[in-house]
Amino acid sequence: MTTATTHSVLSGMRPTGRLHLGHYHGVLKNWVRLQEQYDCYFFVADWHALTTHYDDPSIIAPSVFDMVVDWLAAGVDPERATLFIQSHVPEHAELHLLLSMITPLGWLERVPSFKDQQEKLKDRDLATYGFLGYPLLQSADILAYQAGSVPVGEDQVAHVELTREIARRFNHLYGREPGYEERAEAALAKLGKKATRQFRAARKRYQEQGDAEALAEARALVAAGGGVSADDHRRLLGFLESGGRAILSEPRALLTPASKMPGLDGRKMSKSYGNVIELREEPELLRRKLQTMPTDPARVRRTDPGDPDKCPVWQLHEIFSGAETRAWVQDGCRKASFGCLDCKEPLIETLLAEQRPFRERAAAYQAQPKRVRSIIAEGCARARAVARKTLGEVREAMGLVYE
Ligand code: TRP
Ligand code: SF4
Repeated sequence: MTTATTHSVLSGMRPTGRLHLGHYHGVLKNWVRLQEQYDCYFFVADWHALTTHYDDPSIIAPSVFDMVVDWLAAGVDPERATLFIQSHVPEHAELHLLLSMITPLGWLERVPSFKDQQEKLKDRDLATYGFLGYPLLQSADILAYQAGSVPVGEDQVAHVELTREIARRFNHLYGREPGYEERAEAALAKLGKKATRQFRAARKRYQEQGDAEALAEARALVAAGGGVSADDHRRLLGFLESGGRAILSEPRALLTPASKMPGLDGRKMSKSYGNVIELREEPELLRRKLQTMPTDPARVRRTDPGDPDKCPVWQLHEIFSGAETRAWVQDGCRKASFGCLDCKEPLIETLLAEQRPFRERAAAYQAQPKRVRSIIAEGCARARAVARKTLGEVREAMGLVYE
């Protein structure tokens, strides 16, 4: 479990409050599945939280512990996955700094979330150096473990894409073996003058703009090169794709479908709307939240028929109830054969049953905070060993080893 392979999976979450059912059904259930198959690294991205909460970081500290307990409650298994805290592995910061040397400003300014979030979080001043570097810090998180796959939502795909570009640029700049360039140039000359010129142009377009067509074009030129030996063939493909040896490996995004979890008011479940059902809700509170949920406004009296399509409770039935219950709701609502409280009851039972194991696991951990702390400490140590190895290679490649 301590060595990162290309099959390692890494993901992080910012500690900015308690997790809710949207997080569980969107993200955590997926993590629990992934840990069965892959060497997983899951971490609390506290530095990322600081980029947006620097003026009042008080939410971060309590959320770090609670979030790890939420993960454990949801079934993330510390025997299988490595759980750690970003700021406890300072190699993330070192790699972020080193990568910043080779990161063109334009690449960061062009990441869509940079402008989007500034627009969205108008009440915060996000015209900071730290916030501009948010996706690069994320790249450092990923590359420090040479993670093969990064489970993320749609909004984070551009960050994984940036990570790939950074890895490619790093390998291009620092991944050359002695004589590498000369050998590649010699092989290139064998393609003939015209093909060489076309190859160079296509390679440039591919490396600078990630143009996939240019890549295909250059590959075709190499494939068509009759007199080229198998060794030269490989050399040229390497020259084309990275310009050298791969020191940092390019991750791929494992797209997590966007959570469609509706909240208590029918809008998307989100802390900012105040419409959440927490992952570990007190049973009484959960019951009350559902009982007071708004329903189709047409059902003023119990005898007034309703329309499930106009009711946020129905949206939850669609996710949590089986076909039989759903048919019962559709029928009873339209015929007014029962009241809204009756309609909510099976939903309440289902949610309570889903949360029971969460509450049990969480209670066990909360009774032993030391155990949680040691899970985190062990995770940090394991993570650190992997990140340290990568940083050794990075420092060496960048010529930062002095004797
Ligand atoms: N930016 C991610 C989010 O907001 C959190 C994160 C930080 C992350 N570092 C990461 C996710 C590395 C995946 C990999 O959801
Ligand atoms: Fe909503 Fe159910 Fe009431 Fe119909 S009966 S309005 S679906 S809560």
